[in-house]
Amino acid sequence: MAFFIHTIMKRTKIKELIATEPSGQEVTVKGWVRTFRNNSFIAINDGSTINNIQAVVNFENTDEATLKRITPGACLRVTGSLIASQGKGQKVEIAVKEMEIYGDAESDVTKPNVYPLQPKAHSLEFLREIAHLRFRTNTFGAVFRIRHNLAFAVHQFFHERGFVYMHTPIITASDAEGAGEMFRVTTLDINNPPKTETGEIDFKQDFFGKSTNLTVSGQLEGELAAMAFGDVYTFGPTFRAENSNTTRHLAEFWMIEPEMAFYDLNDNMDLAEELLQYVIKYALEHNREDIEFLSQRLFDEEKQKPQTERSEMTLLEKLQFCIDNKFERVTYTQAIDILRESNHNKKKKFQYLVNEWGTDLQSEHERYLVEKHFKKPVILTDYPKEIKSFYMRQNEDGKTVRAMDILFPGIGEIVGGSQREERLELLETRMKELHLPIEEMYWYLDTRRFGACPHAGFGLGFERLVLFVTGMTNIRDVIAFPRTPKSAEF
Ligand code: 4AD
Ligand code: MG
Repeated sequence: MAFFIHTIMKRTKIKELIATEPSGQEVTVKGWVRTFRNNSFIAINDGSTINNIQAVVNFENTDEATLKRITPGACLRVTGSLIASQGKGQKVEIAVKEMEIYGDAESDVTKPNVYPLQPKAHSLEFLREIAHLRFRTNTFGAVFRIRHNLAFAVHQFFHERGFVYMHTPIITASDAEGAGEMFRVTTLDINNPPKTETGEIDFKQDFFGKSTNLTVSGQLEGELAAMAFGDVYTFGPTFRAENSNTTRHLAEFWMIEPEMAFYDLNDNMDLAEELLQYVIKYALEHNREDIEFLSQRLFDEEKQKPQTERSEMTLLEKLQFCIDNKFERVTYTQAIDILRESNHNKKKKFQYLVNEWGTDLQSEHERYLVEKHFKKPVILTDYPKEIKSFYMRQNEDGKTVRAMDILFPGIGEIVGGSQREERLELLETRMKELHLPIEEMYWYLDTRRFGACPHAGFGLGFERLVLFVTGMTNIRDVIAFPRTPKSAEF
């Protein structure tokens, strides 16, 4: 008997229930109310799927006080029998026998603390202001279930290939990467910091005995590990204090950085392409309904736009296209020629006109190449050394390095990587030219002193990947609690 009581109270997730054959069996669902219609039909969601389950209450048997408490946002348990649904839109529903309300959510607008997510359309901007509640909408439910599966797929991809997952440090004393402005980490009293004899702040007295920051990348430490394990990857948070308030930049974002011994640039490109296609495919297989919902959402949104601004493909088609087609591989030099000769450039439609070899590409140029010229993902290689990092392997021409950036439609740069300079002398010369602290970087240079080998790696911006797969257009909508200039709420 005890066993029986336990089974009837056990919660079943909605994802499982809606795939179950109804035979009047007793089931329990726990979740949050989305809508309550006609004093009878409760739509409940528990986050396991985008679908709600309909629970039908018999209002004749239920007291009025309880019925009043079934409002959008309230948390409850219903127990009843699973039956075939009479209504349209769902296969099964629950005929409620017993109900328990865990937590109320006020919906009477004349009272204080009204639940802000009433059943109507809310703008993404409004939802960003209530990011602590937005998980309870269809859109954000879909986005974060997809985000979860993408992260899982990343680990599975590398695990299947024998890579070792490294946790590289978040706090670092090295700022040689030059990937962006850094956030300082200190325990010094900012109102009264200790000073040296020459009047500078004395970081010897700081917590770590030196000046420290939040990391912009795990790559340099990843390289150290690759010189022992061969294939490694990091997947962690990175921090950049750039003041770029765009729809593609966060101050705190997650990055996947594999580093492989014995890889050259071509191997590196192959791996990056395989990874991207693998994780997109994984999401299409495991988040089909969520992606279909977001695809429809985007389609409806784009209907408001003039024909010329609409995408040629739906989100679903775009993802499938990405899996089915090889990425285009072109050098920076070829890309500059294409851009320079383009009608877009000749008609001065670029904000930054492309004239000379050597200038960095703006995102308008990247997007032109991907969306207008090649109409598919593009890998650009062999950039001028002046616009890339010190550690990239120098080409014979003395002008370019073995860099690669992967550019995606609607996103621009999603991956940045390179073959690394493994030749100590060339690396040191380049570091001197850039006035980098060679002495302090002894630990990095040791990989070139002791058993150096050709190696390569790249960084995939996780939120940019989630942006692409969800079709969302603002990076603030694919990370739970975005950190951007002047904003660190929640
Ligand atoms: O091109 P980045 O700066 O490369 C590196 O950090 C290298 N250490 C990677 C490596 O070779 N191991 O950054 C890599 C990727 C970019 O392509 C972009 O997708 C993402 O990280 N990214 C950002 N994403 C969100 N917000 C920002 N502020 C970002 N900056 C870079
Ligand atoms: Mg980059």
